[in-house]
Amino acid sequence: MTPDDTAGDPPDHETCVAENRAHWDELAEHHPDTDAYDVEGFLRGESTLRRLEREELDAAERTMLHLQCHLGLDTLSWVRDEGVAAATGVDFAPTAVETAREIRDRAGVDPERARFVERDVREVELDRTFEVVFTSYGTIYWLPALAEWAETVAAHLEPGGVFYIADGHPFAAPFGHESTADDLRLAGPYFDEGARSVEHDGSYAGWNFGLDSWRKHGFSHPPGEIVTALVEAGLRVECWHDHPWSFFQRFDAMEERDGRWYLPGLEYDLPFTFSLRARLPA
Ligand SMILES: C[S@@+](CC[C@H](N)C(=O)[O-])C[C@H]1O[C@@H](n2cnc3c(N)ncnc32)[C@H](O)[C@@H]1O
Repeated sequence: MTPDDTAGDPPDHETCVAENRAHWDELAEHHPDTDAYDVEGFLRGESTLRRLEREELDAAERTMLHLQCHLGLDTLSWVRDEGVAAATGVDFAPTAVETAREIRDRAGVDPERARFVERDVREVELDRTFEVVFTSYGTIYWLPALAEWAETVAAHLEPGGVFYIADGHPFAAPFGHESTADDLRLAGPYFDEGARSVEHDGSYAGWNFGLDSWRKHGFSHPPGEIVTALVEAGLRVECWHDHPWSFFQRFDAMEERDGRWYLPGLEYDLPFTFSLRARLPA
């Protein structure tokens, strides 16, 4: 199995989301045992946050909503290591949410400071707002459209509150894993042309898990769509930054330096990660 094994015509959007949920729920059973997630390292005190978000987002002493939190390791790192006052992590995979609560309890983090809620990010309706909404690394690609996501962000920010996202750059999403600096291979759409469906018995964290639910569906969201969804939801975009490294080995030819993956041999840098900060007007 390679990361570009296409799985035929995609089903309708809601079936895509349901299949994604089944797939992520199973991945959440296996990810705690992988080196990529390194739960033991986290329990020993290592933060799972990357330096990009630590440098670009000052969340100390603030309340935070973390969307698509998966196993909650970043949520807990914000609270334990970066002084976030209290965080709520949301994910639609029940096993991810249960595991996040277990890791929180093993780490001795006060449950009042780290709550985890099982919910589709498009349907979050919490009875409170937050000073920061955060999401990162492998998030909006799984959403068929961004309007409801952006509404979730806006509805849960306090006036003057900050939204921050760091994720794979939409520019890089269409290229196949066999791409090199001399040969970027188009393997999917850049513009939103519907779901890109693949079948994998695994993820970036490992292969051959023995999953029952192999099929998953991703969706391209170019920068214009991301920015417009947030602006239409009422946010003011403060910055968009392009970064010449990937947070995972997007192409086989990429090489890692200090936790960041680069494509060797490029004459000019290309963007593989973006970060964006926006604010709900006070
Ligand atoms: C790549 S992981 C999250 C990234 C996180 N930085 C990490 O590595 O732990 C993607 C997460 O998004 C969640 N997810 C995907 N679609 C979702 C949706 N519609 N609502 C809520 N969670 C969703 C999955 O369950 C999974 O936990």
